[in-house]
Amino acid sequence: MKGIILAGGSATRLFPSSKSISKQIMPVYDKPMIYYSLSTLMLAKIREVLIISTPRDLTTFKQLLGRGDDFGMRFEYVVQNVPNGLAQAFILGEKFIGDDHVCLVLGDNIFYGHGFSRILHKVQLQIEGAYIFGYYTKMNKAYGVVSFDSIGNVLSIEEKPTYPQSYYVIPGLYFYDNSVIEKSKRLKLSIRGEYEITDLNNIYLNEKKLKVFLFGRGFVWLDAGNSDSLLDAACFVETIQKKQGFYIACIEEIAWRNGWIDNEKLKQLGKSMCKTEYGRYILSLFN
Ligand code: DAU
Repeated sequence: MKGIILAGGSATRLFPSSKSISKQIMPVYDKPMIYYSLSTLMLAKIREVLIISTPRDLTTFKQLLGRGDDFGMRFEYVVQNVPNGLAQAFILGEKFIGDDHVCLVLGDNIFYGHGFSRILHKVQLQIEGAYIFGYYTKMNKAYGVVSFDSIGNVLSIEEKPTYPQSYYVIPGLYFYDNSVIEKSKRLKLSIRGEYEITDLNNIYLNEKKLKVFLFGRGFVWLDAGNSDSLLDAACFVETIQKKQGFYIACIEEIAWRNGWIDNEKLKQLGKSMCKTEYGRYILSLFN
């Protein structure tokens, strides 16, 4: 299984803050936004990750994350010249994906909840087509929406519908089999000028190869796309970390717990940031 983080786009909903820097580099409390989506892939035990961003921002991501050695991972980078839509990730990533299955996570999506790793593991065991997620929210008009019949079969998937058929929206985390590359090539630009992930999911739905996992009400999903949601996300992370003492999206910790880096490496990473709570947290993990 390969992973892709889509971290491009123009982030106009965060202007002027994002006028000259990538949204996904901006901090959500104490760490760059992309750490959260990267941590999701790491919890899914995905070790090879492609990061897609704009011609302007890709260098910054390379400086931040490098080739992945620090985390016992392998990172590749590809430019998306124009933000033509989420489904373009699979065309840009064709060579990287090769013959594998692939998981796409959006660089501004944050997932947090008990049992998340287990869910990710379960989903990966069952990939035969597409596996996406559903999340209950009253703010359904801003997202892709999935509706069901009375026995739970998927009836429809619509992108930002004016009249949503359900309160279940589709978060930016998608698992696909290898046919996603060929299917993406078949897509036409939508009215808003994008290769839509929703059109891709509808192809799988028509082939009866789409599964949906519904997150429960205790699960947290945030997308930090505008100033309010960015602040909400930062406050959420701060609250949990201070209250529990466990960090959200500490990628060094996850790499270590996955057995991808040893104690020595973890200590080295912690020491390099020991002037911050984040660095001291890493060093405290040995206790
Ligand atoms: O967040 C979940 C939602 O993400 C889904 O429910 C929708 O079905 C899906 O279309 C998408 O909706 P958004 O309106 O949030 O998409 P947005 O254009 O904001 O892009 C999401 C992220 O992907 C954002 O961080 C920018 C990045 N992006 C976007 C596009 C269109 C790219 O890197 N390249 C792109 O071409």
